[in-house]
Formats: sequence, structure tokens, C-alpha cells
Amino acid sequence: MLKTHNCGELRVEHDGQVVTLAGWVNRRRDQGGLIFIDLRDRWGITQVVVNQETTPDAHNVASDSRSEYVLQVVGKVRRRPEGTVNTELETGDVEVLAEEITLMNPSKTPPFYINKEDKIEEVRRMEYRYLDLRRPRMQQNLVLRHRVIKFIRDYLDEQRFVEIETPILFKTTPEGAREFLVPSRYHPGKFYALAQSPQQFKQLLMVSGYERYFQVARCFRDEDLRGERQPEFTQLDLEMSFVEREDVMQLIEGLMIELVEKVSDKKLLFKPFKRLTFHEAMERFGSDKPDLRYGLEAIDVSELAGKSAFPIFQTNVVEGKPVKVIRVPGGAKVSGTLLRKQTGDLESLVRTVGAKGLAWMALPENEAEEVKGPIGKYFTIDQKLALFEQIEAQPGDLLLFLSDKRSIVYAAVDILRRTLAEQMNLTDPNILAFIWVIDFPLVEWNEEQNRWQPSHHLFTAPMWEDLPLLETDPGKVRGQQYDLACNGYETAGGSIRIHKTELQERILKLIGQDLEHARKLFGHLLEAFEYGVPPHGGIAWGLDRVVMLFAGEPNIREVIPFPKTQTGADVMVNAPSFATDAQLEEVHITIVPQEEETAT
Ligand code: AMO
Repeated sequence: MLKTHNCGELRVEHDGQVVTLAGWVNRRRDQGGLIFIDLRDRWGITQVVVNQETTPDAHNVASDSRSEYVLQVVGKVRRRPEGTVNTELETGDVEVLAEEITLMNPSKTPPFYINKEDKIEEVRRMEYRYLDLRRPRMQQNLVLRHRVIKFIRDYLDEQRFVEIETPILFKTTPEGAREFLVPSRYHPGKFYALAQSPQQFKQLLMVSGYERYFQVARCFRDEDLRGERQPEFTQLDLEMSFVEREDVMQLIEGLMIELVEKVSDKKLLFKPFKRLTFHEAMERFGSDKPDLRYGLEAIDVSELAGKSAFPIFQTNVVEGKPVKVIRVPGGAKVSGTLLRKQTGDLESLVRTVGAKGLAWMALPENEAEEVKGPIGKYFTIDQKLALFEQIEAQPGDLLLFLSDKRSIVYAAVDILRRTLAEQMNLTDPNILAFIWVIDFPLVEWNEEQNRWQPSHHLFTAPMWEDLPLLETDPGKVRGQQYDLACNGYETAGGSIRIHKTELQERILKLIGQDLEHARKLFGHLLEAFEYGVPPHGGIAWGLDRVVMLFAGEPNIREVIPFPKTQTGADVMVNAPSFATDAQLEEVHITIVPQEEETAT
């Protein structure tokens, strides 16, 4: 090794030892006869002192060095003189008095500071990702990612799981997301699809008798990107045979609890994890992945509000549209002007998701005063009192009323909760609120295509007791599905699978898939089901999302070494890029220029 110690290692017990360090110049202070260099490597920073009088050669090298130069330093460890100890550095009790310094490589001036947590434009960071990754915060994130994956592998190995790799070059599947296609050189006009997930292979591995499979699997989906989505992401994918829903949930919960407690510095809010049915989650929080670090629950007040004199509530309730209230504790404790502005802003916010308006009541701190807000006058005193009792309102609370089609109320409740929680500082990143959401509907109605579609994927088994409803009332059938949500993100999703061809065919029929077409797409799976398939089920975590939450980062790009930008580009390597004519010819592809295409 070109170093004997790392830059985070030296302590007072090394006093007097001659050591060799190597790393990057984090900072250099030139005080004439003495130069101080903070030398940085992956493990920390050590102060090096260079004396012009005693080591003129080393001083010359130090004098020419700039930020990010790579140096090797041979020197003697000594305690720092009284009063110069740096308590912020782990190595802050000592310094290394340089005897020799070798310049291993100079560096151009970096496009941004490596040694400061400055706000840097994201495209700049992506363009120079290799320098961005040199920053301590990013290094910590990637090391954390490594620890998470290592812990999972060890844990599952102990539980007798086996990690098996499955193909990335797969074929187009009916799983849901848009796929990336890869042309084939050997088969003109044919394409592979990059695997969206190892779903079918892991089910086939159950047919093969592995019983407990997992994989840290790369998945590819050509989706519109958001903070928690990437076109190329990593799942912890898992499948088990001879299990029921509860078995998979228990295993995953045990793993996640130990992982959080041993690998992260976060606190679990619920232990065991809280469970909500899909219906309850939507009704109370307007989301199937609600953030339960805070309350701000939507309470159904349809019965009371329908009896008020407010015409919109009256008609809506008659039409079966709910009236829901979110109680914002202390939300009315602001001036009248500010209150009008705040409620106005919140109203604009809910309009973005289709709500027609936002009614409100502000409860005075002094109970002798009048309730403020546009709809107070439509409620009698008794109605108000009954309402406040139902929702346990306190003086100084702000009550936000939503009434509309159920789907719009849900969306409005969700966006209001998220926004209010941010404004009220209720989203402590040190708390992880894991919840299971269960009893999802098996299928949902697709208005545009006028057909039922699976709400998870089409291999998910219905709840056995709901089977009779499959043909008569499909919307009421619940799936044996489970999602694990945390702090407002979907962190994992899975299900018990259909393991009988006959049932799989019933589901295909329900979602309007032509059996012949389905056989072409995944006849392999239907056929495999004819060779003794064990009952099985599994789950997949969005590993990037879990690491993001552990790292307290706002998006998954911060925990992925080389992510894509919002438009799916890699601005460092310039991908995607044009292929040469020769390459295209080889894969039998002709590019039709845009103008010609529109002309024809
Ligand atoms: P699903 O599609 O729900 O299930 O994916 C599982 C988990 O993967 C994460 N995830 C993503 N993370 C980052 N970027 C994306 N584009 C992205 N898409 C999904 C989410 C999600 O919960 N085969 C099934 C699993 C199963 O049934 O066992 C599947 O892929 O955290």
C-alpha cells in the first residue's frame, strides 16, 4: 500500500510514530514558514504541517499544491500544541509533521467545492458526478447503501434464502410500465425488453423448487421521472413458497426492523408496524401510502354537514359525495389578513388536483368570539357544537372542509396533508413511520380504456373468500396484496400469487386479455403452472427509496451513484446518443427522419 494509515485513523496513541498518508488536499493554509494541509481520504481528514526550515523540499511541494491535488506524505505524528486541538475532527488531537511529500497527481480547479456543502446546480453535479461523489456526504450515502445491502444479504442467507440472478434481457411483458426495447442482431425485426422486475422468473424459480429466493435486482422502466423514480433502479426482490400473506409480511417486518435499528440512525415510530386497509388509508389520509409521522387526518362529517344550510354540502351529500374536514391544530392563531392569505393559498393548491374550492372555519382562541370563515353562517350554533365535538376541535384550530367526488377529495386531502405538514414542520426526517397497507382492490376500473385492470399486477391472487365475486362484482374483490409505505413513500409492494392456470385465466378474462394473446406473451408461465406449482408469494422493495429514507435525503438520485436526470439523460457520459449507420444496419433498424415521417 502507498499509505500506512488512513486520514481518519490517527489518535494520540500514535504520537511519535512515523506514518505514510495519501489523499487529496482538502484545504491548504500558507503561513509563510509553515504550511498546513488538511489531507482527506475516504475515512477522514488529518492535518499535515510542513516546515520550510527543516524540510525545504516538502515545503516546496506543499507550496505548489492546490485543492484536490493528490499527495503522499511521510511524517511523524505528534500531539497538537495546547490550544490548537480541533474538536470537530476525529483526528483533531494530533497532526503529522511532514518529512517528505510526493505529488502523486495535480488537479484542475474543480467546477465546485468538494470541501463545502454548498448548494450546487444539479446538472453541474451530474456532469461531474465523479467529483460530486468525492464529497463526504455522497460518500457516506454510498457506504450506507453498501451496508444496507450487506445486512440484507446476511440476514436472508441466515434465513436460508438463496440469491439467484435472472435475465435483464427479457421480453415484453404485461406488467404495466412502459419498457425499454433492445433490438436483436440475430433476429431481424425482433426486440428484447429490459426486465421491469424479475417477477416472472422468480415465480418460475418457485416452480423449480428453490422455495426461498431473493435478488438485489436492477429493474428498468421507461416512466416519467420524479424524485422517487428512476428509469433504472434497484429492488430487493424476494419470493417464497408454501406461504400465506402473513408469513411474507412477518419476514419482511423482522428484516426491516433489524435493518433500521442496526444500520440506520433513525427511530421507528411503529413497532410492530401499523396496518391500514386500503379503504381506511384512502378515507382517512387520501393516499395509499400516507405519511403517519403526523395526524392531520380527514374526518368524514357528511352527516352533519349535509344538514347545514350550505347548499354545496347539501347537494353533494344527497349525491353521495362526502364532506371531510382536516383539523389544523392552532391554525387559526394568526391575524385575519394572514389567515385569508393562507386559506387562499391552500384553496389554489387543492384546485390543482381538481377540487372546486376549499371552505374553512377558524375557531377563535377566546370562546366568546365568533367563528370566522365563509361557511360559519350556514351552521346553527348547535350544529357547530356537534361538529366541534365530533372532530374534537380546540379553540384556535383551523378547520378545512373538502367536498367533491371521492377521488378528488382523496387527492385534495393528500396534497393538503403533505403541504401543511411541511409548513408546520411535522416531517422529522429522523423518524421512520413504516405502515402496511393491505386489502387493496384486486382490479380497478380504467375509464379511458373502459376495462378492469389489475391494481398490482395480474399474477396477484384474489382473497380466497372474495373469489365468488370475481365475475359478479369485480370491483369488490380484494387482492392478497401488501404494500409497505414509509413517510409518504411506497417502499415495497408484493402479493400472494395465483398458482393455478384456471384462476389465472379467469383473471385474464376479467381484464379483457385475449387468451391467445396472453399465451403469446407469457405462455411459458401458464405452461409452467401445469407442472406442480407450490402456493407462493413475495415482495419487492424499492431499495433506492429505503436508502434515501435512511440517509435522510430528499430524492433517490442522492443515493444512486450514477443516476439519470429528469429527462432520463446521463449528462456525464452523454447518453442516450446516436448510433452509427453501421450499428443500426447490424440490428436491422432504419431511422426515418422526422420530416419524412410527417410528410407520409
Ligand atoms: P412494484 O412495481 O410495486 O412491484 O415495485 C416494487 C417497488 O419498487 C419501487 N419502484 C421504484 N423505485 C424507483 N424508481 C422506479 N421507477 C420504481 N418503480 C418501482 C417501489 C415499489 O414499491 N414484481 C413486483 C413485486 C412483487 O409483486 O413481488 C414489483 O415490481 O418502492
